[in-house]
Amino acid sequence: MIVGKVVGSVVSTRKNERLIGQTAKRQAVTNYKKTISSIKREMGTDHTVSIDDKKYNCIYMLITKGKAMTNKERFIEIFRSKIKREGAEKLLDYICSSGSDFFTAPASTRFHGAYEGGLLEHSLNVYECLCDFVKRPRFREKYGFTFSEESLAIAALLHDLCKTNFYKTEMRNVKKNGVWESVPYYTIEDNLPYGHGEKSVYIISGFMKLTREEAFAIRYHMGFAEDENKRNVGKSFELYPLGFALHMADMEATYFLEGKD
Ligand SMILES: [Fe+2]
Ligand SMILES: [Fe+2]
Repeated sequence: MIVGKVVGSVVSTRKNERLIGQTAKRQAVTNYKKTISSIKREMGTDHTVSIDDKKYNCIYMLITKGKAMTNKERFIEIFRSKIKREGAEKLLDYICSSGSDFFTAPASTRFHGAYEGGLLEHSLNVYECLCDFVKRPRFREKYGFTFSEESLAIAALLHDLCKTNFYKTEMRNVKKNGVWESVPYYTIEDNLPYGHGEKSVYIISGFMKLTREEAFAIRYHMGFAEDENKRNVGKSFELYPLGFALHMADMEATYFLEGKD
């Protein structure tokens, strides 16, 4: 989905600031390592570009009124425009607070999104995949499954909230070109060991009420991949198809949109 009409063909980052169009073009020679040209043709596709060893999905290099949105801005924009229920603003305040590392946390220690901002990127990728998945004619016409935009945003953006304050960085020695170097790596430090999907449901419920379908979808979004009671997973998908769609979107984002750092 592309928002807005003004799309720059060149984007760049400089001192954590995102530059677009002519501004990016002017500094392209001196800042060539952090500048991507001809981005326009990739907008809205699954193509990714790398700047500073970080991957950016072109879908999120969105421009509204001539201004590119960061993943954090995009998350907040979707959250505020789609999630209107009581307590939602308080939950967003918590996510944005210094007590939460949601926007900087990785999505995993070694696999998908194992870099700063990986969890945020994954949550947005799942949102795109989920919105797309539920548009399938079979889903809507054959089975008659429909979901509110609010439920889609809640399920996708918040399904992995359990990974907030879940990872920490440690250092280890690695030999590079025959020389030992101290490099950072992610490890797990779970201070609220309440499971995975169930922990996300627990955190969200502290701020706002979930519908039963949203709660089941988030609770069972890992599908059969976790050490779950298999009968419960199947039954929950049958009862609450949003869970099935969320699981599919989660897998699509993980295996096709995201990779190792
Ligand atoms: Fe998950
Ligand atoms: Fe996930």
